[in-house]
Amino acid sequence: MKRYGLNNVVELPGRTRPRAEDAPGTRRARRIIAVGGGKGGIGKSLVSANLGIALARAGHRVTLVDADLGGANLHTCLGISQPQGTLSDVLTHGTRIESLAMPTGIENLTLVSGAMDALDAANPRAQARARLVEQLQTLDADYLVLDLGAGTSVHTIDFFLLADHGLLVLLPEPTSVENAYRFLKAALFRRLQHTAQTLGVAHLAEAALGSQGSAMRTPAEVVKAVAESQPEAAAQLERSLREFRVKLVVNQVRSAADQSVGRAVVSAWKKFFGLDMDYLGAIAYDDAAWKTVRRRRPLLLDAAESAAASNLVTVAEALAALDRPRSAGR
Ligand SMILES: Nc1ncnc2c1ncn2[C@@H]1O[C@H](COP(=O)(O)OP(=O)(O)O)[C@@H](O)[C@H]1O
Ligand SMILES: [Mg+2]
Repeated sequence: MKRYGLNNVVELPGRTRPRAEDAPGTRRARRIIAVGGGKGGIGKSLVSANLGIALARAGHRVTLVDADLGGANLHTCLGISQPQGTLSDVLTHGTRIESLAMPTGIENLTLVSGAMDALDAANPRAQARARLVEQLQTLDADYLVLDLGAGTSVHTIDFFLLADHGLLVLLPEPTSVENAYRFLKAALFRRLQHTAQTLGVAHLAEAALGSQGSAMRTPAEVVKAVAESQPEAAAQLERSLREFRVKLVVNQVRSAADQSVGRAVVSAWKKFFGLDMDYLGAIAYDDAAWKTVRRRRPLLLDAAESAAASNLVTVAEALAALDRPRSAGR
């Protein structure tokens, strides 16, 4: 079985490439979706839970994974009060992750709950992180949906980079846009550094970044500097960056101006980084969303007729459409 460990980032799965290399019957997650955004309280867990439900209802076998190592609460979004096993068993006791996937009461949908006890779980050591990343990929499902934590810690960024679909949630507010931008930039540079390492040009990338690190540079500048002495490696770096194709969802949309934020962010990303982003759609601000959270019931089950629920189904359909063969070459 081919593994896509982070030491091998050049081979990170292309965002929409079919995995023809998987032999029939191979156990592994076919598609990994990571839901991030760099900020708390923006709806990452709401999107993860309901995206998982929408995909499960469409007939896919889905496992939701609460990868918010410092603030796990996905189980509560699904009305599960006391999960038995959690990711901390993988991080600290060596439990195999597949034994943690529990039924949710929803057909085709299982949940791996997040670590809730150990303080250490919020910042696992590199070895524990690597074990988690490796085991995640062996989970047998059509879709794994990873609900990420806030911030730009290394494990959060690595979960995002691991995914076939890095799904960015943002609110149409400057604070959220700012954090999302910082989150994506951190992910882009980490991808660049991993790829440079694999290609044996990490020292050139480091030198190009200079003492001020990524703060003052764009990835394109780093690629250009590497190209001066290693044009082939630079071409591969550029290709790897291009494969970083983020999927965008704008949540809590209230006005026509809010509606336009998604397209504006896609254009800005193209303008400043030269990279494409897939805009999957907007989700309305909806009282049903917070009311169902308070009832500990998923929106798609308890308020299926609401605007936000219908928007979430549209987002799930847009995402699944990217995986259908006719769009596989994108
Ligand atoms: N579309 C929405 N409309 C209204 N309230 C929302 C919406 N999305 C999220 N919320 C509110 O925001 C809260 C935080 O969402 P959550 O998914 O827990 O954020 P995160 O996982 O990013 O921290 C929810 O509990 C809910 O009350
Ligand atoms: Mg959350």
